Amino acid sequence: MHQAFARMLTSGTLAASLCVAGAQAEPVPPDAVVFEDGMVLASLTGVAGNPEEGAKTFVDRRLGNCLACHVNEAMSDHLFHGEVGPPLDGVADRWEEAEIRGIVADSKEFFGEETVMPGFYSLNVGTDVRKDLVGKTILTAQQVEDIVAYLLTLKEQ
Ligand code: HEC
Repeated sequence: MHQAFARMLTSGTLAASLCVAGAQAEPVPPDAVVFEDGMVLASLTGVAGNPEEGAKTFVDRRLGNCLACHVNEAMSDHLFHGEVGPPLDGVADRWEEAEIRGIVADSKEFFGEETVMPGFYSLNVGTDVRKDLVGKTILTAQQVEDIVAYLLTLKEQ
């Protein structure tokens, strides 16, 4: 993926944030996230995701709103699970952490431009966006890490 490599080369911010390892590091800015075949190997924040916080962001209609499109048996006490996307039960058996991080951060990098799943840590949210959302991501880097940590608990095997 030479596109990702070029982005890596041109991104001084990323280089800087990689030098500051550990909890104090700044989150990787959304336009500096390195995708490799749609995957994001490194944590966006350097801070371990919190699955309980992730579960809250997942169901929050103003944040992840993941149930709008996905069935998730673990959330069966919440109503109205959409079926636009595949059920997320057992998702951790199907995908590795780096794949799940790539899907949540920017599903277009993973599935291609035609996917209807929003990129949650991407500035590429479409053209018909409320003015106050231009230049912002739907979720913060830590909210993405928390959701990734939550999804990694969804195992069936
Ligand atoms: C507007 C609908 C929509 C929303 C909202 C949405 N997704 Fe998706 N998602 C999809 C679709 C559709 C796919 C299947 C990929 C494709 O065909 O484009 C998918 C695929 C996935 C996959 C891969 C599942 C698998 O087993 O292959 C994961 C993981 C995922 N979504 C997580 C999430 C999370 C987490 C959220 C909330 C932060 C979310 N999605 C919000 C539509 C959505």
